[in-house]
Amino acid sequence: MQVRVNDIRMGYDDFGSGNAVVFLHAFPLNRRMWEPQVSRLKERFRVVVPDLRGFGETESPPGPYSMEMMARDVLGLLDHLGIASAALVGLSMGGYVALAFCRLRPERVSSLVLADTKATPDTPESKAARDDMVRQVQNCGVDFLVETMLPRLLTQKTIQSAPQVVQRVADMIKSTPPAGAVGALLGMRDRPDSTDVLRSLRCPLLCICGAEDAVTPPSVAEEMASTAPNGRVRIIPEAGHLANIEQPDEFNKALMEFLSS
Ligand code: MLT
Repeated sequence: MQVRVNDIRMGYDDFGSGNAVVFLHAFPLNRRMWEPQVSRLKERFRVVVPDLRGFGETESPPGPYSMEMMARDVLGLLDHLGIASAALVGLSMGGYVALAFCRLRPERVSSLVLADTKATPDTPESKAARDDMVRQVQNCGVDFLVETMLPRLLTQKTIQSAPQVVQRVADMIKSTPPAGAVGALLGMRDRPDSTDVLRSLRCPLLCICGAEDAVTPPSVAEEMASTAPNGRVRIIPEAGHLANIEQPDEFNKALMEFLSS
């Protein structure tokens, strides 16, 4: 489905009924990364899954896309769907957007799941790496991101033994429009520190992290959970940065337990 939100047309799915759960995807992927969660959770919840600005079936106007801008798109979608409050589940970049949403409209968030993400901003080194990546995307398109990103997103074991998973992730990366990748990279580069949002979080927080996530390791998830007034953490064995894709059953179990409690 598509809807006009702010200055873009936004692609999304809306399945099931009951309390709403909104899934926010990682960079440089799209809403299809949540398929293993959608199929399970739609039995119990209303599951809303947007493509963030620049990705999937959502338009990609010139960037930068600040995390707040992406959060405002999600807010526009919830308004359109008549959803007063929802559980937000954000993985990596989706987590940055979820935190931006909490800063904007805390009263619209019933609970928060931050997976394989962090609240702190980019370091000077990671800002420089973003700028390099922007230049490469502008010069060569997004295909090179498959080679650079896959070893960061998936464990070595998955890369060697699960070709269908690798293919799914690679296909999502390759389908990202260059303008979308650039817009999001610039927005992530300049995102603010959200530690204050965590500190004043009014809703329950679950931090999920792949035990082998080298991008945002378990220590980061533990730190975030202990910063929030009501936070807990779940480490998923044998998973890297895309814990929801590598270990969907464990990930879904953690989500179901938290969202049902
Ligand atoms: C992601 O998975 O969304 C990215 O690793 C986030 C980032 O580059 O900071």
